[in-house]
Amino acid sequence: TRVFVSKDMASVALGADGLARAFADAGCEVVRTGSRGLFSIEPLVEVETDGARIAYGPVGPGDVAAVLDGSHPARIGAIEAHPFFASQQRFTFARCGVTDPLNLADYAANGGWKGLEAAFSLSPQEVVDAVKASGLRGRGGAGFPTGIKWQTVLDTDADEKFIVCNADEGDSGTFADRMLMEGDPYCLIEGMAIAGHAVGATHGYIYIRSEYPFAIEAMREAIARSAGKVAPFTLEVRVGAGAYVCGEETALLDSIEGRRGQVRAKPPLPAIEGLWGKPTVINNVLSLAAVPFILAEGAQAYADVGFGRSRGTMPIQIAGNVKNGGLYEVGFGVTLGELVDEIGGGTASGRPVRAVQVGGPLGAYFPPSMFHLPFDYEAFAQAGGLIGHAGITVFDDSVDMAHMARFAMEFCAVESCGKCTPCRIGSTRGVELIDRIVAKAPRESGALEAMPQIRNTKGAARTHDEEIDLLRDLCDTMKYGSLCALGGFTPYPVLSALDHFREDFGGASALPE
Ligand code: NAI
Ligand code: SF4
Repeated sequence: TRVFVSKDMASVALGADGLARAFADAGCEVVRTGSRGLFSIEPLVEVETDGARIAYGPVGPGDVAAVLDGSHPARIGAIEAHPFFASQQRFTFARCGVTDPLNLADYAANGGWKGLEAAFSLSPQEVVDAVKASGLRGRGGAGFPTGIKWQTVLDTDADEKFIVCNADEGDSGTFADRMLMEGDPYCLIEGMAIAGHAVGATHGYIYIRSEYPFAIEAMREAIARSAGKVAPFTLEVRVGAGAYVCGEETALLDSIEGRRGQVRAKPPLPAIEGLWGKPTVINNVLSLAAVPFILAEGAQAYADVGFGRSRGTMPIQIAGNVKNGGLYEVGFGVTLGELVDEIGGGTASGRPVRAVQVGGPLGAYFPPSMFHLPFDYEAFAQAGGLIGHAGITVFDDSVDMAHMARFAMEFCAVESCGKCTPCRIGSTRGVELIDRIVAKAPRESGALEAMPQIRNTKGAARTHDEEIDLLRDLCDTMKYGSLCALGGFTPYPVLSALDHFREDFGGASALPE
């Protein structure tokens, strides 16, 4: 009997290796795949039965016999019919969880290389035009049109150009880059080779964070096995050393060049002067992995899906205190409420949802009253937030939002590269300010006495409201005065916490003065 068990890092953390061993010991042929992406049903096994796959999960090594005789109560049936999967549009993650990630024959048999072959039959300009027509925007978070970025690199004359893949997925609650690299590495390689053909680059780098050992191994092995397929394009993996700021594109380039990762001032844009001063396409994993579909199925097939100016699909990562955490790829336009309540199934704790942070540690917090928001770059920007890398983290009503605002400032202080003052100094002052605001809120806390008294311009001790005004002022300075998104976006979680959950910061009536 042939069975399929994921070898994705998350699946392994949930016990997939033991499950795979138990099926092998029972005489089964075990194929290790990527993850299907729904963690509440893992460890998951799919048993090949009459040419179809029947899924069971979650199951453990003790369940092998009951799974194999079909009597196990955790029988799911065909995974595609499960509600979490039936409503998805898997353009980028079509093969993830289905194929053996490193098996070249499996990749080719499931639509692999079709995009690259189509690209090779086109001129570089035609490839760039197709990416433009698809409407694809940068999936790392900024949403800049990928085709326009590629056009800039194509139009810049140089003896050498590079393709750099940003796989320094540092946002909390995100894991799509990792899942793709572990579950379908050739898809990323194909996307990068297409980019190379489109702009005239023959070498590429994949910069992966060191926290992703499985992805590093999978990509290195996949690069070695597919070298002949993508030649003359060549690729190598570079491993980061754990700095969040190295996910910022210019710091990432510095890091590849062997220097300490520090943000460069723009301009010049990397598209014009990037790696070693050469024109460089630098794209997120998900942007590059979307490209094979666009070339294989046509730009229109991608552009037909979506909402407003956000075209195509987004691999959304649902995490935090949520029942159905996992990867959900769907066209833009799905609402935040659908994602949290219906697809995510509400909180894992069973308590009411209080806040959802969208876009990683630099994203805004939204209360349930904003669950009507459609997943769309513009709609989120208008609502004072961002989609970012599409990680959504759910919190129940036990969350303390002043604490979360403080965490954002603290995170920025720890991860700041130190180049500019609003971020380097502002974040530390922000932590102190939130501590004072919280200490001033309840009269009986006693914490205030332990703090230095800060005077206002009239020489009196600053009031609670004045401290809050100062926090807003500081956020303003960080937002407009920081060189990169780390300092510039930290105000999003802080201000959204303040705007939507003001009660957690203490009311004016609780002033100690
Ligand atoms: P940005 O808006 O400065 O730039 C976006 C991209 O477009 C860059 O690659 C830039 O070089 C390029 N670009 C701009 N104008 C161009 C032109 N005329 N021609 C060619 N290329 C051009 O945004 P940035 O600072 O690169 O990214 C900020 C985003 O990063 C945030 O939205 C945030 O969500 C996201 N982020 C993602 C993380 C992750 O783990 N994926 C972590 C932290 C932040
Ligand atoms: Fe460095 Fe922060 Fe300035 Fe970005 S905002 S360049 S991380 S100091």
